Amino acid sequence: MRKKILAANWKMNLTQDEADAYVHSLVRETGETNDVEVVLIPAFTVIPALAARLNDTAWIRLGAQNMHWEKSGAYTGEISGTMLRALYVRYVILGHSERRNLFGETNEIVNRKVKAALEQGLRPILCIGESLQERDLGHMNQVLEEQIRVGLKGVSLKEFHDLVIAYEPIWAIGTGKSANPQQAQEAHVLIRSVLAQVSDSGIAERVRIQYGGSVKPENAQELMSQKDIDGALVGAAGLDPVTFSQIIRCTEAALA
Ligand code: PGA
Repeated sequence: MRKKILAANWKMNLTQDEADAYVHSLVRETGETNDVEVVLIPAFTVIPALAARLNDTAWIRLGAQNMHWEKSGAYTGEISGTMLRALYVRYVILGHSERRNLFGETNEIVNRKVKAALEQGLRPILCIGESLQERDLGHMNQVLEEQIRVGLKGVSLKEFHDLVIAYEPIWAIGTGKSANPQQAQEAHVLIRSVLAQVSDSGIAERVRIQYGGSVKPENAQELMSQKDIDGALVGAAGLDPVTFSQIIRCTEAALA
């Protein structure tokens, strides 16, 4: 049984004061949930205060949006996994399409980060997804397979337990145009079959695969009801605590 995992990727949004107000409101709106794993993924600057704030709110976990693969050193402007661990960060998004497209991250770079995160006790949320052009040209399967195979190269079978995959079709991110539940489910089946090839079928059955791309209260329940969709990576709709709380409710409803 894979516990569903809902993560709000705040991207480059929310100051410390705004993050405080957000958590206050999210807790008021949601109460508490143990059926769904909830993760907040703020900017680095907000992590220390949020870590302290969430100390007594165990149902909300903390994530980061990126990290460097080295533990320390002369890498101006970078943050390491060791630094994140010291702040009780549990999850780290790696290979988000914005990092790939705007900051030149290749599958090889993402792979270094995945291995470093696992070594340092963090759980990677490895993002993969095809562009509209790749989908239209019929290259989707090949693109996803390559992102998984290279992204997970050298990851041991034992480490697969700490891994989350986020399937985020690039054409659905920030566009308001989500993949429909069938399209998403099909992609998730494909991803699970590639995971089985690079690990084994028992392990692949246990890896959680999130869907991301214009998830909102209007489509969350149907998406989360699909057999192979194990949660969501939420961007825009995760910036408002009331809306994110509604997505949590929709996900709980999908479990019923
Ligand atoms: P969106 O972003 O929900 O705003 O489409 C998703 C993401 O980038 O993780």
